[in-house]
Amino acid sequence: MSQQKALLLEKAKGSFVVSDVPILKPGPGQLSIKIIASALNPVDWKIQAWDFFIQKYPAILGTDIAGDVEEVGEGVEGFSKGDKVFAQGFFVNEMGGFQQYTLIPAEIVGKIPPNIDYAQAATIPLGFNTAAIGLLHAQPEGAGLNPTFDLSVGYVGQPALVVGGSTSVGQYVIQLFKLLGFSTIIAYASAHHTEYLKSLGATHVIDRGEVPIEKVPEVVKKIADVPIKIAFNAVGDNDSRAACIAAIAEGGQVVDVNPEVEAKDPGNGKRVILVFGTSHHPPHREFGKILWKTLPKLVQDGAIVPNRVEKLPNGLAGIDEGLQKMKANKVSGVKLVAFPQETS
Ligand SMILES: NC(=O)c1ccc[n+]([C@@H]2O[C@H](COP(=O)([O-])OP(=O)(O)OC[C@H]3O[C@@H](n4cnc5c(N)ncnc54)[C@H](OP(=O)(O)O)[C@@H]3O)[C@@H](O)[C@H]2O)c1
Repeated sequence: MSQQKALLLEKAKGSFVVSDVPILKPGPGQLSIKIIASALNPVDWKIQAWDFFIQKYPAILGTDIAGDVEEVGEGVEGFSKGDKVFAQGFFVNEMGGFQQYTLIPAEIVGKIPPNIDYAQAATIPLGFNTAAIGLLHAQPEGAGLNPTFDLSVGYVGQPALVVGGSTSVGQYVIQLFKLLGFSTIIAYASAHHTEYLKSLGATHVIDRGEVPIEKVPEVVKKIADVPIKIAFNAVGDNDSRAACIAAIAEGGQVVDVNPEVEAKDPGNGKRVILVFGTSHHPPHREFGKILWKTLPKLVQDGAIVPNRVEKLPNGLAGIDEGLQKMKANKVSGVKLVAFPQETS
């Protein structure tokens, strides 16, 4: 069997179509992964709508992968055919997630712990990388809270804010704040997510249906009894960024998921970090290697729980509809997951 099914974005701003493409052999240091579950992300519909990141069309998108090791490349140690693994895809066809087989460097692949299934595992890579690189990685790529991922270094007694607490990224930010020992974790999200976000570690949820974004700094300052030094904008729009900047104290940092904005110096020694949440990116690679060694144990111990899953029907063909739903803001607090092997 040398052919597989892939979901191709035919051309810039074009349509998605399921097609046959070759299955590639892993190069040195790579794993070939048979993809069982592939999660959808806003970046996938944004690439289709706006055309960025992609150098060559037709393009295979998809950055959240879970499956089985199919073949082990030369020089790879610690993985065997059949291992259950999860990994982050990248914006080149050989590493895309919207296909049945992909190639990923083994040093940034993790083994799926037995307490979660493929679909749950697929919800983790991009969201967790974005949260972890943004918060922990050394400056300027991250806020530098814990560049060695040494979780014995803590922030007990300190407050933190995440705007967009119910986003996939926001859910991992809350869990990382908890792991880092922050005592007050304030999330801005819809009220119906309150109990769930508290189960992840939020101590306070500000209802975005009740409190307009411009009032958030005022409410946050009433909740936190010491100045806030770190905020995470998991929504990425200008109003959310402005609220985060206003909420933090002099010398504080805002991590922002929108890498496209101009990073203006907000003054007062405050800093805005524009995160690019991928272990594939060369400046993040060393951190990514540590992350992928650490993450499976955190998941196994229940310290990091996956996002809740909504399963999509029709294999790769079902992805397009899922992306349109996401684009229409109709996905709330869950991750959409497709199953490439179910493609007819
Ligand atoms: N820089 C990077 O490397 C990177 C990586 C990953 C993601 N991102 C970006 O980060 C953003 C979040 O991605 P994601 O996958 O985590 O999103 P997601 O899970 O698809 O986001 C959906 C959630 O966003 C919430 N939301 C929408 N507008 C909001 C607002 N104004 N205030 C608070 N919550 C709001 C919705 O809440 P309700 O339930 O209340 O409707 C919904 O639960 C996207 O813009 C994405 O493109 C960037």
